[in-house]
Amino acid sequence: MQQSPVQPIKGTRDFFPELMQTRQWLASKIIKVSEAFGYQPYEGPYIEKLELYAAKSGDELVKEQAFCFEDRGGEFVTLRPELTPTLARMVAQKQRQLAFPLRWYQFGPFWRYERPQRGRTREFFQWNIDLLGVNSAIADAEMICICAAFFESVGLTPDTTKIQINHRGLMDGEINRLGIEPDQKKDVFRLIDRRGKMDETAWRKYAADLGLKNNQINGISDLLMNHDLWKTSEDLTMINDVVKAAGYETYVEFSPTIIRGLDYYTGTVFEAMDIRGGRALLGGGHYDNLISDVGGETLPGVGFAMGDVMISVVLEDYGLLPDYEGLSDTVMVTIFDETTQAASLTLASTLRSHGLKVCVYPECEKLVKQFKYADRMGMAVALVLGPDEIANGKVAVKDLQTREQVEVSADIIVETLKKHLA
Ligand code: HAM
Repeated sequence: MQQSPVQPIKGTRDFFPELMQTRQWLASKIIKVSEAFGYQPYEGPYIEKLELYAAKSGDELVKEQAFCFEDRGGEFVTLRPELTPTLARMVAQKQRQLAFPLRWYQFGPFWRYERPQRGRTREFFQWNIDLLGVNSAIADAEMICICAAFFESVGLTPDTTKIQINHRGLMDGEINRLGIEPDQKKDVFRLIDRRGKMDETAWRKYAADLGLKNNQINGISDLLMNHDLWKTSEDLTMINDVVKAAGYETYVEFSPTIIRGLDYYTGTVFEAMDIRGGRALLGGGHYDNLISDVGGETLPGVGFAMGDVMISVVLEDYGLLPDYEGLSDTVMVTIFDETTQAASLTLASTLRSHGLKVCVYPECEKLVKQFKYADRMGMAVALVLGPDEIANGKVAVKDLQTREQVEVSADIIVETLKKHLA
């Protein structure tokens, strides 16, 4: 009896070529925008000590979501749930040798044990981009401009996509004014973060369970509806000016409800949303103490991360993903019979040495079968090199869409194919 195939792990994805094309296309857009702003690629290890995140990532990420285990040496390690602590560790390690401002980006895999749903998986890719060593909101504004430039490059317009910005310092001041104790601040930030994810009654009960008084809950609620609050923040005003000067202001709005779940943010915080679907696309913010928390000297940083899952869903919904191309830029060389096989292989090598992508049919089969295969793989042309063609110094070029076949002199086959494929 045939066994059923072994199932993949829940929340992971198999990247068949079609999905792989999307991932590579997304990566190419990410690389292009990151490098257009002068950022360099970097990467860290995929596993880290659990204690690295215990420093500042917050309880939810460390206690509920980390894919952690004890290694054979008895150390608690985890598949990385995010990159910012690794970045901080790497920078702290070489702080004296590195040149600042430092602009780095990365696109790689991450793991979080979350409930898989549309747009969220347990294994996902993230684009991380960070700017370290600048003590001004101009750095924060640069991040916002990078987000907007990326959205523009993939065809997402300000009608559907907004970068929502807030400031933890600003919110801190307002929370203090409500007479909330400093040791309750973390809880209140979490409460603000939950506002959009809960209905009013549940949210108020959650607030009361945290020990907040009624007038304080009302005060927080009013705060979250004050859409002019940002104007009292110097940093947010500067961000607004820079983003305007760069021509991206239509992508931006200021929102007091954005606070972010991670504990290390100290200043500007932001998230980008697909507003029609209410879907979060990315998140980031400014952090002043993360480098010193992992043993370096105090150094400010700002950055964000975007997962590949939700952005792909949103781009697909708006018809902005490129069509699957298969091997449309690849030529297939057929094998006519055993006596001509070597000539076909030589032709394929010559074409490859001229930069063409070429595959050779691996068996002497009927030509019809070879053409059919090339067609199924999405190839546009197949070449035939039979005894007559070889004797006359020609190659037959079959266009698999029109089914037309023409004989071309072997001397000009490279140019002919390049023209055809273009
Ligand atoms: P984060 O908000 O935890 O921030 O994650 C950033 C983005 O990663 C999310 O907006 C989402 O697109 C994606 N993401 C997170 N979890 C999942 C999941 N389970 N499935 C699919 N996508 C997911 C950070 O990670 C910070 N380290 C960002 C940062 C960089 N801050 C400063 N620099």
